[in-house]
Amino acid sequence: MACERAVAHWDWSDIYVLGIATIDQQHKAMFDMIADLCRSIAQDRPKAAVTAALVRFEHFSIGHFTNEESLMRRIIYPRYEAHRRSHLEFIRRVAAVRETQAIDDELAHFLGDWLAEHILTADRGYADHYHRLQVQENRLAGATAP
Ligand SMILES: [Fe+2]
Ligand SMILES: [Fe+2]
Repeated sequence: MACERAVAHWDWSDIYVLGIATIDQQHKAMFDMIADLCRSIAQDRPKAAVTAALVRFEHFSIGHFTNEESLMRRIIYPRYEAHRRSHLEFIRRVAAVRETQAIDDELAHFLGDWLAEHILTADRGYADHYHRLQVQENRLAGATAP
């Protein structure tokens, strides 16, 4: 079953760990929700159950993106606007597919691939910025310590 392969491929792995605990937990939860969606498609569950699994993922993603965007604003991340646009486009695209009711393996694969790629590139970008700031702050704290 194509879905099983996809789920295994998206299994939580260290390469996705950004070192920001809440964000990492949310990413893991998003992969888990995609796996759930994928399973409900593969098991031919009733349409309402499949749609509900997608809606759960959408709602969770919107909350996650809001968290990331406020973190990026807090650390004055220079690529904030482009990152925010990428979140918006993703949510728009998912909502458009949900409205057409064409929720199939292809969508589940798209979600998994998009999330993996987004974490490894865009999210990694603000996480690196965040960690650099932490190092600078620690240095400053050390410099002013008695
Ligand atoms: Fe993210
Ligand atoms: Fe992001």
